[in-house]
Amino acid sequence: MMKSNEIESRLVEISVLGDERGLLTVIEENNTVPFDIKRVFYIHGTQEGVRRGFHGHHKTRQALVVVAGSCKVFLDNLTRQTDILLDSPQKILILEPNDWHEMYDFSTDCVLLVLASHLYDPEDYIRDYQLFKEVYSS
Ligand code: TYD
Repeated sequence: MMKSNEIESRLVEISVLGDERGLLTVIEENNTVPFDIKRVFYIHGTQEGVRRGFHGHHKTRQALVVVAGSCKVFLDNLTRQTDILLDSPQKILILEPNDWHEMYDFSTDCVLLVLASHLYDPEDYIRDYQLFKEVYSS
């Protein structure tokens, strides 16, 4: 089968439940996000002009959502590149391991919540772009 060149990560809209008291948004494993959630972390207090990430993964799948503020995510699968704007708690980016990613343009109030399919393991990170190419170019 021919390998698709399309970026596999994708933006998903989730519904916001609201009433006169305010809003509520739910994320469930193997439902809203297509994996078991093993780890949760959030990036906040990001300084102006900071760009972070700069890696791909071997196996970790992630879901990114801004619970406050906004940021952008640059994705690169060696063939295609795209920039995704996260500016609403309704948008979840399902980030696949084979997409190199960089986060940038954080608003000062941005809280970027990340749900991950695996526990933290530095060995799962591919931080060297040359190595990323070697791993995913075949
Ligand atoms: P880092 O991977 O540099 O963040 P980014 O990829 O967004 O630039 O993470 C910053 C530090 O936090 C680094 O020392 C690794 C550590 N860390 C953990 O200990 N556990 C985790 O789940 C994550 C995501 C990072």
